Amino acid sequence: MVSYEAYTVIHILGIMLLLLSLGAYLILSMNKSVKGKKLAAITHGIAILIILVAGFGLLARIGYMSVNNWPLWAWLKLAIWLILALIIIPIKRMPNLIPVLWFLIPILGALAAYLAIYKIDF
Ligand code: HEM
Repeated sequence: MVSYEAYTVIHILGIMLLLLSLGAYLILSMNKSVKGKKLAAITHGIAILIILVAGFGLLARIGYMSVNNWPLWAWLKLAIWLILALIIIPIKRMPNLIPVLWFLIPILGALAAYLAIYKIDF
């Protein structure tokens, strides 16, 4: 059985891979550079998957076995996760937004962390 602690470390590994890959992807897109973009895109996909799987594992470990009783903060985290999964599209198609996204991405990450740490159920 995967422990709560192990899921937490895996969740954080996913977050590190996510920020690493999005940072690289942003700069590569800004420079219209192709070399390394595939590595960044693959890393992003793996990161997104790891975060979700470990996130579900964590929810199960803290007692939320079924989606029916998920707290609001978990749904909000899932929404942030979805935004950070799809954000690769505007990075590719709207390069003028890159400087905004550069700051928006860590803010969204911090918001996701805040929701899990404070667990405020509005
Ligand atoms: C990119 C999106 C996400 C980020 C940046 C993120 C970030 C974090 C961070 C920093 C923690 C705190 C770890 C700790 O110190 O205990 C955490 C915990 C957690 N996250 Fe996420 N998370 C994300 C997505 C998700 C998703 C999609 C889910 C599930 C739907 C999820 C569920 C949880 C749960 C259940 C915890 C543990 C709360 C507890 O310890 O009681 N997270 N997350």
